[in-house]
Amino acid sequence: MGLDLKRLFKKEKQEHRILRQIERGDHLQPEYHRATLECPRPEWWSMFDSMTAEVEVLEFLRTVVTTIKPELVVETGTFSGISTLWIAEGLKANGRGRIVTCEFDPKVYESAKARIAASGLAEWVELRNESSLEMKVEGTIDLFFSDSDMPIREQEIRRFLPQINPYGLILMHDASSHLKVVREAALKLEREGLISVVLLRTPRGLVVAQKREGRK
Ligand SMILES: C[S@@+](CC[C@H](N)C(=O)[O-])C[C@H]1O[C@@H](n2cnc3c(N)ncnc32)[C@H](O)[C@@H]1O
Repeated sequence: MGLDLKRLFKKEKQEHRILRQIERGDHLQPEYHRATLECPRPEWWSMFDSMTAEVEVLEFLRTVVTTIKPELVVETGTFSGISTLWIAEGLKANGRGRIVTCEFDPKVYESAKARIAASGLAEWVELRNESSLEMKVEGTIDLFFSDSDMPIREQEIRRFLPQINPYGLILMHDASSHLKVVREAALKLEREGLISVVLLRTPRGLVVAQKREGRK
């Protein structure tokens, strides 16, 4: 009762509200993000919730991992750990590699930690309770999945770019034209000659990119 009153008078953070829904179980539903010119029928896609990537994007992540066989995957924005685990499934199928993923909200981090611990895939995952803008990762990154707070995605790419394998891939989620900021960041980085960009039409949009420097 106390908690309900607190929620009533204090605006609850979106991540925490969705986590409470998730605690009741993972349920698939049609995507309800706004239709756009590039993706006029979002309801053809499915989602668990509006924070976790579309199910089709989760499938894509797993397939990209089995296709390019990364040794090191870095993900920013773990949320409840669902995308992390689809990537980890790909790593398990490959029999190699690891994912380092960061979530800066302590409450959200604890929830992801529990999901990952119960998944049977924990050996493939290194979960960190820190910000993507402070996280330090050793080694060359073969797959970088940027899925944290939208306004900082450009900074994330710039920060990790020197470590990204020019034969690897950069994925930036939420690059739909209606969400704007990530799409604009990706196109800006492309105009500067730092990355080459392909825009995949999904309800929330996905950039598939590659670092230009070092590519032969
Ligand atoms: C869109 S959700 C991630 C969804 C998740 N990748 C999935 O598809 O299952 C974004 C998450 O990033 C976290 N976040 C925001 N800014 C961050 C930062 N600077 N570093 C790490 N995590 C951050 C938020 O707390 C939120 O849980």
